[in-house]
Amino acid sequence: MKVTKAIFPVAGLGTRFLPATKANPKEMMPVVDKPLIQYAVEEAVAAGITELIFVTNSSKRAIEDHFDSNYELESNLFERGKYDLLENVRNILPEGVSCAYIRQRSPQGLGHAVLCAKQFVKNEPFAVLLADDLIDGGQTSCLQQMIDVFELNQTSLIAVQKIPSSETKKYGIVDVPSETDPVAKIQGIVEKPDASNAPSNLGVVGRYILTPQIFTLLENTSKGSGGEIQLTDAIQKLLNLESVHALQFKGKRYDCGSKLGYLEATLAYALKHHELAHDFKNFLREFVVCLE
Ligand code: G1P
Repeated sequence: MKVTKAIFPVAGLGTRFLPATKANPKEMMPVVDKPLIQYAVEEAVAAGITELIFVTNSSKRAIEDHFDSNYELESNLFERGKYDLLENVRNILPEGVSCAYIRQRSPQGLGHAVLCAKQFVKNEPFAVLLADDLIDGGQTSCLQQMIDVFELNQTSLIAVQKIPSSETKKYGIVDVPSETDPVAKIQGIVEKPDASNAPSNLGVVGRYILTPQIFTLLENTSKGSGGEIQLTDAIQKLLNLESVHALQFKGKRYDCGSKLGYLEATLAYALKHHELAHDFKNFLREFVVCLE
């Protein structure tokens, strides 16, 4: 089966970026000139996703507006002859890609957010992308790498990367027979363990391809780590029914849920931005000299 639907859980409160996220969704924070959510959506669309399902809350309307047309802005750009910008705002979503929005009424965790999208996904495998995790996969995006693997073995697949032992408490951690295999069958998965209980140093990053069986399991998953319904806990149950694989993807992931990761992403993306790269590099060179 092909993966054509993707869930974007965007109902998180973004407390780590307050006050910036008091009135603006954290997913709308820009990295250079595009909001984080647009990077995730572009990654999904380029990998063949045609149905985007956003799990939002009442303070995330800006996300709906961003992916809708804006008549006033477009006619203004047209009248002023700013055709490049017009193309830019019109083509955020290509033809044939549709969006659905569903509200998660209270913050009950990632597992609960994914479950909210059940009625849109129905009985198909689907992707989940967390916009906080900005991934530069180079030629082949992280989700494309995952879809390539999924098309071969048709099992649920989770993106993982090596993380330091000191950071296991920030991630879902997988148990695999070998930490060196790029694709490995998962034997267990645990949400945010202490380093002493972590089964490996492979942390889950925000890209998943899941079979629809996960929904029934989520319906029967009680609150776990942080008092929330965890996707990780339902995946642990899925292991009893189906194979689930972990993919150590190729590419660089920026944790834009943290201030440091967000700044790193901003720097890296500015350095490869077609308008900025040259001048920004020169600025950085001078800046680094001042630091020394
Ligand atoms: C979520 C998942 C966690 C995963 C992480 C990746 O946690 O629950 O398993 O490792 O995303 O970013 P959160 O960062 O939302 O607390």
